[in-house]
Amino acid sequence: MAPGRIRDGVGLTNALAAGAPAAPAGDADGPLVGPLRVGGVDFREVADDDVEQVVALWDACGLVRPWNDALRDVADARSNPTSTVLVAHGGGAEDADPGSAVGPGAVVATVLAGFDGHRGWIYYLAVTPALQGTGLGRDAVVAAEAWLATQGVRKVRLMVRSTNTQVLGFYERLGYTDAECTVLGRDLP
Ligand SMILES: CC(C)(COP(=O)(O)OP(=O)(O)OC[C@H]1O[C@@H](n2cnc3c(N)ncnc32)[C@H](O)[C@@H]1OP(=O)(O)O)[C@@H](O)C(=O)NCCC(=O)NCCS
Repeated sequence: MAPGRIRDGVGLTNALAAGAPAAPAGDADGPLVGPLRVGGVDFREVADDDVEQVVALWDACGLVRPWNDALRDVADARSNPTSTVLVAHGGGAEDADPGSAVGPGAVVATVLAGFDGHRGWIYYLAVTPALQGTGLGRDAVVAAEAWLATQGVRKVRLMVRSTNTQVLGFYERLGYTDAECTVLGRDLP
C-alpha cells in the first residue's frame, strides 16, 4: 500500500470520541501526518518487513485456515485503496528482548480493515498471546474504526466464526451487537 494514507490519527480518534462526524468519503488520500495513535499505541499500515510476522501472529491466534492464503490476503488488502492491514509493534521497554515476541520491532497486534462501498469490515483482529488482556485488542478495533472513518464508513461490521464464540464477550464490551444476519458465501472460479 502506498504510504500517505493514514492522516491525523490522534486528531481523528479524538474527534470520533467527541462524537464528531467521520471524515467525508473521498477525503482519505490526504498527506501522511503520522500513525494512528490509540491508547498510547501506534498503529501503522503494514510494511514489507512486517508481513511474515503478521501471518505468523494470525497463525498463532488460530485465524489462518487452509483454504485462505494469508499472504495473499495481506497483499490484496494492501493493493486496494479502500483496505489496509494495521499493525502495532512491541514497545521499547527496558526489559524487552529485541528478539522476543513483544520486543521492539515485533508485530504485537493486527487488524485488517476494508470499506466495500456500503459498510466497513474488520478481519484478522489479533493480539500476540503474551499481551492479550492488556487492552491492545480494544486499541486495534478503535484504530480500525478510525481508519474506516477516514474512508467515509458509518457502519462497521465483522464476522465471528461459529467456533470462536469465546470472543463474543470481547466485542460486546466494545459495543458490538449481533446484527442478526446469516452470512452466505460462494467462491468464484
Ligand atoms: C480477541 C482479542 C483480539 C482481544 O484482544 P485483547 O487484547 O485480549 O482484549 P482487551 O484486553 O483489549 O479487552 C478489551 C475488553 O474486553 C474484555 N474481554 C477481552 N476478552 C474477552 C472475552 N473473551 N470475553 C469477555 N470479555 C473479554 C476485557 O476484559 C476488556 O474489558 P474492559 O473494557 O472491562 O477492560 C485477542 O484475545 C485475540 O487475539 N484473540 C485470538 C484471535 C481472535 O479470536 N480474534 C478475533 C477474530 S473474530
